[in-house]
Amino acid sequence: MLLTGKQLLDRAHKEGYAVGAFNVNTMEQCQAIITAAEKTNSPVIIQASQGGLKYAGVEMIAAMVRTLASTTKIPVALHLDHGTDFKQIMLCIRNGFTSVMIDASKKPLEGNIETTKQICEIAHSVNVSVEAEIGKIGGTEDNVTVSDREASFTDPDEAEQLVKQTGIDSLAIAIGTAHGPYKGEPKLDFDRLKIIKERLNMPIVLHGSSGVPEDSIKKAVSLGVNKINIDTDIRQAFSRAVRNFVGSNDAYDPRKILGPAREEMIKVISEKMIMFGSAGKAY
Ligand code: G3H
Ligand code: 13P
Ligand code: ZN
Repeated sequence: MLLTGKQLLDRAHKEGYAVGAFNVNTMEQCQAIITAAEKTNSPVIIQASQGGLKYAGVEMIAAMVRTLASTTKIPVALHLDHGTDFKQIMLCIRNGFTSVMIDASKKPLEGNIETTKQICEIAHSVNVSVEAEIGKIGGTEDNVTVSDREASFTDPDEAEQLVKQTGIDSLAIAIGTAHGPYKGEPKLDFDRLKIIKERLNMPIVLHGSSGVPEDSIKKAVSLGVNKINIDTDIRQAFSRAVRNFVGSNDAYDPRKILGPAREEMIKVISEKMIMFGSAGKAY
């Protein structure tokens, strides 16, 4: 069943759990996510980045997710991850995405507000949900000093202004996570998360959540994170299984190579759903 991002996240916000938002580029990833959601009775967000849409085609991703969503009772939202391009966002909406992220976090506050507001007006008029970002969630490969890192964290006053002036449905914040594999253990600014959640009282999104230890994830959920983005952990599960399989025999049938990779992704995604507290929340 295809629902909007807002429908999934408002309930998570009310009941105090987080919905996993898993990135996809291929059919096997889409199937693994739906299978894990069915196994754990979990609502789920399937999301594609602009790079993912370039790789697979927006129509292909939309068709795969719509097909899977129409044949399951599990609540599914189809979301654009880190949308930065107006035309790309419109194309996603035309292709049935039920949620989009407008990532104007690189702009100064006024520009972020202006761009986000424009997307909200259009998306909300056709019942599509909007996630925005404030603060800067970098990559783990970015070489930043501790003071630079903290300067990039979300300012609660700015977050409040963005939310009040745009009408977004969920907000991605920077509290110490980063995209990609971590070199050390990520240190999250939980005090900042608590302040932001209390001030905004709305669904909060955590990006760069692969490799974040279970206790930190659970603490973030208990303090009000309601959407958790996972990409790298799925990529690693996929490539680990392919490497193991191809390295140990001379299989040439794609089904024999990709089938075990799909199983490995189901395992990793199911564990996340249990960790996030969304398991059992499908109905
Ligand atoms: O936030 C970034 C996601 O992991 C997507 O990455 O742009 O390489 O598809 P990508
Ligand atoms: P990871 O790849 O670090 O899990 O980040 C995913 C993400 O934030 C997608 O927007
Ligand atoms: Zn992200």
